[in-house]
Amino acid sequence: MNQSLILVFILLATLSVVNALPHQLSKRETQWGKCTDSGKTYPLLGVTISPDPLVQGQNDTFSVSGDFEAGATYILGVAFFKDLADDPLYVFITPVCGAKGLPNCPVKPLKMDYKITVPTGLPNPYFLAVVVEDPKAQIVLGCSETQVGGGSEESYPIASYPIASYPIASYPIAE
Ligand SMILES: *[C@@H]1O[C@H](CO)[C@@H](O)[C@H](O)[C@H]1NC(C)=O
Repeated sequence: MNQSLILVFILLATLSVVNALPHQLSKRETQWGKCTDSGKTYPLLGVTISPDPLVQGQNDTFSVSGDFEAGATYILGVAFFKDLADDPLYVFITPVCGAKGLPNCPVKPLKMDYKITVPTGLPNPYFLAVVVEDPKAQIVLGCSETQVGGGSEESYPIASYPIASYPIASYPIAE
């Protein structure tokens, strides 16, 4: 092999490692934060999603918990946003008690699974909020939000990976 071919091989190997890294690292769990709304913050809901991360067009189950009492007028909402300051693109809502397949009202603490079909054609990034509220009384008992996609890749520690961990280090350098 001549010298320039070897360089091409090393370049290709490097590119494929760099491409594979963000993919592996993105398998960490979705992190949820408190919702803020004109300066107010609400108690954080416990949220886990399965599968995690969400896949557009696929079903996903939201397991939601909160240490409060929720009655018949309360709803659980899952909302998809392009911008959290604007109206949501999609909203899925369900009662939290007193309906088919749900416990009698009131519930305390709240603990339920809610399956939705993730919409397709969502922007990148998009934002997701999970809220338990009484829409009539305008009371929010708990809320969690997260960002999906967008610039978070920048925080991946690619640059700090020791070069020795790349398989290219073991490529034989032929004469
Ligand atoms: C999502 O679940 C519904 C039933 O709850 C089912 O009819 C549908 O086929 C599922 N969709 C996918 C993409 O798995």
